[in-house]
Amino acid sequence: MARARGALIVLEGVDKAGKTTQCARLVHALQQSGRPAEMMRFPDRSTTIGQLISAYLEKKSDLEDHTVHLLFSANRWERVYHASNNRGCRPLMKKKLEEGITLVVDRYAFSGAAFTSAKPGFSLDWCMKPDVGLPKPDLVMFLQLSPAEAALRGQFGEERYETSAFQRAVQQQFEELRKDSTVNWQVIDASQSVDDVHKSISSHSLHTVSAAQSLPLGELWK
Ligand code: TYD
Repeated sequence: MARARGALIVLEGVDKAGKTTQCARLVHALQQSGRPAEMMRFPDRSTTIGQLISAYLEKKSDLEDHTVHLLFSANRWERVYHASNNRGCRPLMKKKLEEGITLVVDRYAFSGAAFTSAKPGFSLDWCMKPDVGLPKPDLVMFLQLSPAEAALRGQFGEERYETSAFQRAVQQQFEELRKDSTVNWQVIDASQSVDDVHKSISSHSLHTVSAAQSLPLGELWK
């Protein structure tokens, strides 16, 4: 009998919502309960494309806006299938899911579309196109935090996009994306304590991991 597949679970949200902490806690909790799980994050700065993105975010290089958008998307596609290189094959997202590993992903195509479409002259529709057909998450949790609450958590960092005006524009684009009922969005109140946010994320995730076992993996925005 074929092994039950793992679930693809994504955490999205504006800066300071606690995505990275919550991804790590969720992976740990799933593993503790005997469910194989691994964390991934986008951008994945470890690849050649990821290094171009990283230099751009750190303002060490300038890239044209369409170009960097397509690099962010390419950085997801390069992690979907096996990558054949001189170090051999690396098992990537699809294979891991087929092996029964649940992937908990810190940002995905939704960040891609929300951040670029917050720039002048970019439509959400154009921004979504390059990611059409990526593995479709079984669950996308949006960690909701108002700009005022985010500000209470401290200053923004030094990277590109880390200004409150831009983050407000990004928040609006996420609201548009959440209207799409083909995606299983769950909004989580990120102003709660770390423990309470974790409980809520865990309960949605456990339900999804069970449900995904008997469902085929979908294709995003198709
Ligand atoms: P990330 O490495 O998650 O940084 P942080 O932990 O500070 O949130 O993301 C870096 C930035 O890249 C973040 O501002 C969001 C942005 N981004 C895009 O513009 N497009 C994308 O496709 C992704 C995944 C992220």
